[in-house]
Amino acid sequence: MAIEEFNLSGTSGSSGLMAGKTCLVTGATAGIGRVTALQLAYMGANVVIAGRNPAKCAVTAIEIREETRNPAIEYLVGDLSSQYQVRGLADEFKNRHQRLDVLVNNAGALFMGRKFSADNIEMTFALNHLSYFLLTNLLLDVLVASSPARVVNVASSAHEEARLELADIDNPHRYFGFRAYSRSKLCNVLFTYELARRLEGTGVSANALHPGLVATNFLKNNGFLGGFLNYMLGIRGISEEAGAMTSVYAASSPDLEGVTGKYLVKKQIVRSSKRTYDECKAAGLWDLSSTLTGIASEAGVPSLSSRYHGRVAPPNAGRKQRHGV
Ligand SMILES: NC(=O)c1ccc[n+]([C@@H]2O[C@H](COP(=O)([O-])OP(=O)(O)OC[C@H]3O[C@@H](n4cnc5c(N)ncnc54)[C@H](OP(=O)(O)O)[C@@H]3O)[C@@H](O)[C@H]2O)c1
Repeated sequence: MAIEEFNLSGTSGSSGLMAGKTCLVTGATAGIGRVTALQLAYMGANVVIAGRNPAKCAVTAIEIREETRNPAIEYLVGDLSSQYQVRGLADEFKNRHQRLDVLVNNAGALFMGRKFSADNIEMTFALNHLSYFLLTNLLLDVLVASSPARVVNVASSAHEEARLELADIDNPHRYFGFRAYSRSKLCNVLFTYELARRLEGTGVSANALHPGLVATNFLKNNGFLGGFLNYMLGIRGISEEAGAMTSVYAASSPDLEGVTGKYLVKKQIVRSSKRTYDECKAAGLWDLSSTLTGIASEAGVPSLSSRYHGRVAPPNAGRKQRHGV
């Protein structure tokens, strides 16, 4: 499907819908994130792509610049499963930019086998949830200063099957890749809704979305089985362009001005699973994530209207050990 089919008509170039706006898209070196960055570039945004592979980042930036004729495409490099590197990436962004209009948290993966991040945290939780949480919190001051601004979290309908037992995050005996993935996507939605509540009145919105079943190389980290599943995804999935459509819509559409705390599928606001509306769970996840990333004690991170603060004790508070699923 041609990219142009997904451009909002009459919005491309320096006079486009997103002209003058700065967008940061994580996981923009491949798949849905790459097309999201490309589309925002077509709309005239200054786009900062974030990826873990410097060569891939450089090539992607050049390709997007050439394809869209938008020169304002940069990249930042960091492995987002590492908190140290997320912090480095956020610092570098702030060194270079005064404003951030749209943050698209998109980087994610599924790991069939249990792995641990550099911070000794189960990899799916570290990459798919904690990187969204940490990067967003580190950039909140710029987002609030740039308001109206948007946070877009790429989740998945896989969240519908998931349960989240906060006390179970550490359980070393129960790892199943798909379950860990689904749970991380439930975390994306819970985090989005809690963020929206905490950002009330700041002019910064937070919405989550499901991109559809998309033919990307998403399962590539998983050896022969991953290769086979990727092949199936290639047959069953929609194109990356169609998969990026809802991310681009959430990042840019005037229809969503002031809309926050929602979940989108195919550019429509729909209800997410019942468990995502559990405010106590969301507050507990926030507190746990704060503990695991140390974000609560950071100077410079704006204190938000924490309506739920202290309502739920973080189950792992004070523990600095292995956090697995
Ligand atoms: N594909 C689907 O059917 C589907 C369905 C529902 C939701 N989603 C969600 O959509 C998002 C994007 O997935 P996709 O299908 O586009 O996958 P993809 O093609 O594999 O792209 C993932 C992107 O994330 C980056 N990434 C992976 N691990 C990273 C790390 N440790 N640090 C920094 N960047 C990292 C990848 O970088 P490299 O280029 O270096 O690998 C790539 O740019 C994910 O959050 C996924 O959960 C996908």
